[in-house]
This record gives sequence, C-alpha cells and structure tokens, in this order.
Amino acid sequence: MQYQFKHNNLISGLIREEEENFNQIFLNSLKLDLDIKQYEAVNNKDIDSDSTSYMTVWLKNIDRLMELIPDNIKLENYHLCDVGCGLGISTIYFALRYNLKSYCGFDFNKKLIREANYIKNNIGKKINFEVANANEKRLEEKPQLLFMFNPFGVKTLNNFINNNEQNLRNNKSIILYANDLWINEIEKSTLINRNHFFNLSSIEF
Ligand SMILES: C[S@@+](CC[C@H](N)C(=O)[O-])C[C@H]1O[C@@H](n2cnc3c(N)ncnc32)[C@H](O)[C@@H]1O
Repeated sequence: MQYQFKHNNLISGLIREEEENFNQIFLNSLKLDLDIKQYEAVNNKDIDSDSTSYMTVWLKNIDRLMELIPDNIKLENYHLCDVGCGLGISTIYFALRYNLKSYCGFDFNKKLIREANYIKNNIGKKINFEVANANEKRLEEKPQLLFMFNPFGVKTLNNFINNNEQNLRNNKSIILYANDLWINEIEKSTLINRNHFFNLSSIEF
C-alpha cells in the first residue's frame, strides 16, 4: 500500500526547546562522564553514501511512537532493535521505560558502538549493542519492535526491508519510524499509524 503523507516542517522554536530540555534531563539522569555533543552531526558518508550522521532523537518522540501502537499488540512479547542506534541513548531510554522482551541496537559506526557499550555499563539493564550495516543485516526470527530515527535514505531502507520482509511478516514485527522522511516509499507495509505533527509512523507488516 502506498501513502501520500506530508512532512511537517513547521515545528516551532519553543517546541524544540522543550524537547531538548526533556532530552537533557534524561541525559543528566544517566550521569554520563562523556560529552555526547562531540559525536553529533559527524559525517558518516565515508561508510555509506545515504547514511545520516549521529543525532540523539527527541526522546519524547519515542513515547509518542509507542502511543501509535494498537492496544491489541502485546508489547511484552516484542524484542527491541534500535536500527542505527549510535551511542544507544534511544535504546537505553526504551530499556528503562518500557517492558519489552529484550533490548538491542546496531550501528555500522564502530566508534559509536564502542561508546554505547561503555555507556550501558552504568545502566543496570541487559542491552546488546553490535556493529552491523543495515544493508546486509538479517534480523533474528522473533517479533521485533524496530526503532529508526531517520538513519538512512531510501536505498538502504528498501534493502533492509526487502532482506527481512518475510521475517517481518511472519513475526508481525513493527517499525517505529521517527522523522519519517521516506515513509511514502515503503511499499511492503500493511498499516501505518501516523502522528502528522511530529512526523512519526508506526508501521505494521
Ligand atoms: C540519526 S542517528 C539516530 C541514533 C539513535 N537511534 C537515536 O535515535 O538517538 C542515525 C544513526 O544511524 C546510523 N546509520 C546510518 N546508516 C546506517 C547503516 N547503513 N547501518 C547501520 N547504521 C547506520 C548512523 O551511524 C547514526 O548513528
């Protein structure tokens, strides 16, 4: 099914400030002894041409995405996979806030995964981070809650979905897509629930 959703570019400065404050409070609660700003917006194009740089998602958007999931889905049976997890702050947010079966994240940037593994040591939750490229990644056969904060362009997005399509369908997996720039290009989904203001989609297979 193809959609014709519009991307909302009208998010005000005040909203940005509120979202950034919320992130800062969460980051302070982690008591990190490294400055994550040094990893933000560092070009990744040397690894893959359509990849985006690391940037921490507005964490409140994770809560908004979770609200888009229909009530009949039993989230406790789902395994979180943060696709392009970077430093893993988004993965950690899921782990501390939502009761899912397991938590993992992957990123093709080795430096970010090294830091994610360091950061998670203080969290007290079992989280698995690994180096992997979404273009080649084959997901494990289990119900997955995949989180993507606009990690890459349409080429990689389609490679990732096509390589895992049968698995996604068999296990009724769900993609939570934040800043869903390529939402209209996803052809294989069965249903999309969307927050049109924040450009957030929950995609079912
Ligand atoms: C915008 S950041 C999102 C980070 C984190 N998930 C969050 O929401 O805070 C996108 C991440 O995707 C990673 N990425 C880009 N292309 C990738 C690919 N082909 N395979 C794996 N990771 C990729 C980048 O290295 C970057 O860390």
